[in-house]
Amino acid sequence: MKPIESIAVHDWQAPIAAQLAAQALDALEAGSVLRLPLPFTLRAEERTLLSPQLLSGTRKNISYNPASGRLQGADGDAVLETRLRGFLARYHASARALVEHLFAPYRDALIDGRASYRPAEIAGRVPKSWRHDDTRVHVDAFPATPVHGRRLLRVFNNINPHGEPRRWQVGEPFAAVAARFVPRAPKPNALQAQLMAATRITKSLRSPYDHYMLQLHDGMKADLGYQAQVHKTAAEFAPGETWIVYSDQVSHAVLAGRYMLEQTFYVPVAALQYPERSPLRVLEKLTGRALL
Ligand SMILES: [Fe+2]
Repeated sequence: MKPIESIAVHDWQAPIAAQLAAQALDALEAGSVLRLPLPFTLRAEERTLLSPQLLSGTRKNISYNPASGRLQGADGDAVLETRLRGFLARYHASARALVEHLFAPYRDALIDGRASYRPAEIAGRVPKSWRHDDTRVHVDAFPATPVHGRRLLRVFNNINPHGEPRRWQVGEPFAAVAARFVPRAPKPNALQAQLMAATRITKSLRSPYDHYMLQLHDGMKADLGYQAQVHKTAAEFAPGETWIVYSDQVSHAVLAGRYMLEQTFYVPVAALQYPERSPLRVLEKLTGRALL
């Protein structure tokens, strides 16, 4: 398995040859980052959106929910909000078309998450805490929003107008991360999970799966020895490049970059081509129990 796999797709909407699509799906589910020479071209009026001044307060991104049309994190008037909403809706539609063509087995099961626009520079930013420090290698897991085994599929694009890349590092494979951090993790606590849901600390019940994924996220970020020693592959994504990743599976750190778009999709494990490679199945094998 290569950390980065180049996939020659040049169009958001066009059908993709079956052999290339099969290669892409195999690499994606194995835990590679797919790199596509696929720019998201801004319309003339969208170029006014290339400014970190659009961010509200200390927010690091502007998000758009395709299901509700809700925009969050922007500081501006109604004209600007309408323009941002249109921009992110267009990115969502493009990313969705791409994913449906590239990963046909997901088509009917794909659930839209939010689109996100990150205009501000990452390098030099002081995170709220070590848990929020995405310059440390981690897998994605979110404390308030349990996913119950559904995969986090993310489509990124660098729209930087100054020629600057987005700089990532990719860490070790998921099975190695899990083997290292699961034995150190406390067992899930059903009563605590019920309390967190009842008091709205979590938006739904934190499943044992979500518990272990958070333990991996936190365990990796908290361990400075691991951060220093684990093998990392540097990856730079140039303006005009798209990259697609299962961010719950691929260890990643974000070191630098500004002006990036991202669309999240949730994929049920039942829709996967190789479910045995999913974090759910890997963790279940390791813990010897069902986690949902
Ligand atoms: Fe992340």
